[in-house]
Amino acid sequence: MQIARQVPAGDGLVIELGGGTGTVTQALLESGVTPERLIVVERAPAFVHHLRNRFPDVPVVHGDAARLAHFLPPDVRIDAIVSCLPLRSLPRHETAVIVEQWHQVLGENGVVIQFTYDIRPLRYIAAYHPDFVICSSRIVWANAPPARVVTTCKRATVASDRPVGAGHQHSRSAVEIKSRSQS
Ligand SMILES: C[S@@+](CC[C@H](N)C(=O)[O-])C[C@H]1O[C@@H](n2cnc3c(N)ncnc32)[C@H](O)[C@@H]1O
Repeated sequence: MQIARQVPAGDGLVIELGGGTGTVTQALLESGVTPERLIVVERAPAFVHHLRNRFPDVPVVHGDAARLAHFLPPDVRIDAIVSCLPLRSLPRHETAVIVEQWHQVLGENGVVIQFTYDIRPLRYIAAYHPDFVICSSRIVWANAPPARVVTTCKRATVASDRPVGAGHQHSRSAVEIKSRSQS
């Protein structure tokens, strides 16, 4: 799956937002992202239940992406945020809060990978924060239905404004404690 190929190699965490039925979770695992490196955040209790059954080794946080920083201990490095959130249909202020969270938790060289079945050009992640810039945007025609995958990076110029947790190794146990406490 295209979305999984965009995830940078490394040992920083990969956060999937809006895990739903687990199609993207499965693709991430199949592409080599280990369960220890992955955290899935999902707001709907039924999907949380389903995801925990389907992927017993993957921490699944029952929570809202708008509070992402709250779920993570301060010493984690986030390499990638994989979002399947329906951002285009959310109220603007909700999207603004979510994008601000991404900026807060993402490591310096981290990326946000947004997946959407709405294949119109998508510029709003970058439009919501001056430190984000679109690195790639492509339609995956082989997907059924076709989908757009947009990768957004942090501008290199923000080195002085170091995000929370950047440059540290993650603590698996701390992540587990946080993830359990959310539901
Ligand atoms: C397009 S669907 C998920 C697609 C998913 N990749 C799948 O395979 O099913 C979007 C998901 O985002 C979840 N969601 C929507 N808003 C959310 C939010 N603010 N925080 C966390 N999850 C959210 C929904 O409950 C839904 O499961």
